Amino acid sequence: MCGIVAYLGDKQAYPILINGLRRLEYRGYDSAGVALLDGDVLTIHKCQGKVSDLEAHVDGRSHAGTVGIGHTRWATHGPPNDINAHPHQSTSGDLALIHNGIIENYAPIKEELLTRGHVFRSDTDTEVLVHLIDDIQRTEGVDLAEAVRLALESVVGAYAIVVLDRKDPDVMVAARKSSPLVIGIGDNGEHFVASDATPIVEHTKNVVYLEDGEIAVIDRRQGLKIRNIKNQVKTPFIQELEMHLEALEKGGYDHFMLKEIHEQPRSIRDSMRGRLNLAKGEVVLGGIKDYEQKFVQAKRILIVGCGTSWHAGLVGEYLFEELARIPVEVEYASEFRYRNPIINEDDIVIAISQSGETADTMAAIELAKGRGATIIGICNVVGSSIARVTHAGSYTHAGPEIGVASTKAFTAQVTVLTLMALMIGQKRGTISGSKFHRLLNELDVIPGKVEAVLRNEAQIKYIADIYKDATNALYLGRGFSFPVALEGALKLKEISYIHAEGYPAAEMKHGPIALIDEEMPVFVIATKGASYEKVVSNIQEVKARKGKVIAIVTEGDSVVKGLADHVIPIPETPDPFVPLLSVIPFLLISYHIAVMRGCNVDQPRNLAKSVTVE
Ligand code: F6R
Repeated sequence: MCGIVAYLGDKQAYPILINGLRRLEYRGYDSAGVALLDGDVLTIHKCQGKVSDLEAHVDGRSHAGTVGIGHTRWATHGPPNDINAHPHQSTSGDLALIHNGIIENYAPIKEELLTRGHVFRSDTDTEVLVHLIDDIQRTEGVDLAEAVRLALESVVGAYAIVVLDRKDPDVMVAARKSSPLVIGIGDNGEHFVASDATPIVEHTKNVVYLEDGEIAVIDRRQGLKIRNIKNQVKTPFIQELEMHLEALEKGGYDHFMLKEIHEQPRSIRDSMRGRLNLAKGEVVLGGIKDYEQKFVQAKRILIVGCGTSWHAGLVGEYLFEELARIPVEVEYASEFRYRNPIINEDDIVIAISQSGETADTMAAIELAKGRGATIIGICNVVGSSIARVTHAGSYTHAGPEIGVASTKAFTAQVTVLTLMALMIGQKRGTISGSKFHRLLNELDVIPGKVEAVLRNEAQIKYIADIYKDATNALYLGRGFSFPVALEGALKLKEISYIHAEGYPAAEMKHGPIALIDEEMPVFVIATKGASYEKVVSNIQEVKARKGKVIAIVTEGDSVVKGLADHVIPIPETPDPFVPLLSVIPFLLISYHIAVMRGCNVDQPRNLAKSVTVE
């Protein structure tokens, strides 16, 4: 949600910033802008639209400078237009600032600054920051870093900012609270700042993750210095990035989403690697080892997340209840944080987040942590805020997910939840030895079965072509397949803009059945397993009302084939692992429908990855 990139070094900043903004564009694409310092000349270019629009806008205009900041926006306050695009500039014209987050108390600050003669040009909350810093610099006679620190003392909200000062062109100041910021340390005094490591990895592998409340001063003469908002000096902790550049490219696919769908055999395998040990017949999750006993003795598990991660959490509920016999409650982080939830000290809270930055999930964690619960994270982005605030956790190892719609992150999250449930179930003695070994063997071959489902893409594309003009769709599933129905519907909605709803199959007759007519595609997961016969009855109910049924079935099924309009076979697997296979056709259907409808699948309208605002 808003991407920030900045550079200070001996090269021209503009191409580095543009390249970085392209990498960060998945975080927001309402407008883009850069500010460049060439000596004491400050140049700002910004416009509504994508990074490519910014490039076209800058074409032929001056863009020199070895210091610069860049921003790609997901609009919160004020419409996406040229004026609201970042960077914002102080009335004096000396300062330029970019921001990711929300300044909650911007209104009273703005009122005060207006009386002091500052001229506001935009509708954004961000603009108060640049005027406030400028005001403090002038009235207190302090340098940029101190003015930033004092300004942030009076700000309520979330921010990651980078500020430039025309009067001191060898310095760049960055700060964060609740929104992420990474600093890259290159050769010859080069420094990079970004919302995540993706724009940095091609320049350097040495990074410092800025902590909440920290302010970084990058000075061409003195290098990087960090202090916190209370003015205490901090020692930068330099880490080596494990990210590889190829993971950030499309690798020959038309879209990141398609690449990421096809990466799932690999990402699921990587999420199991070193954890599922068939030879020893055990599951080892090193990241939660210290909390294993607490987990085993837990009376209750709470799972928090948003969107697709919440859907993965719902699969987790079925997994933990089935395999480990621990009661589970799955909560939308945004609801949980604003209720007065009952949280006990012996509760385990599992927080699921691909980005590791989702503001609501973060707030839910803080609430639960404050009440003494043990927090286990399941995150994809290494070093992300959620990964760092949890007591322990297991990364998903899906690799960077660039497409805004979550795909491989979901299956990686479900894989990790499955490993956790199996491990805890075994330790609690709620799974028999023979069942445990059978399930381990079945899980081990899942990546190969995902490959088999992906080989059906041509047939899935054919089905997509038939239903691409639908205006509504229903997704039905029972048991382990219910969360997948929700996920299938979400995917169709968010990338193809077709209205879709997911329901437990049996709930259909309590209302949604009224929607069914010959125009309504109904996607049903009807694999062999505990609720197979019941789902077959539900399919008959749809067919009796002339609905179109597209069913995901177990290979070799002939019953549903005789009823449905189309069947998509998936390999046989035990019920708890069906979500890892049945979601794949739904991802491909949504992808192909969206492409056929001319939608921007990697950057769907109004969305952004990494939702760092409430
Ligand atoms: C849907 C999607 C979102 C995210 C949600 C949570 O495709 O991507 O619903 O799942 O915003 O994001 P994370 O997992 O980063 O916390």
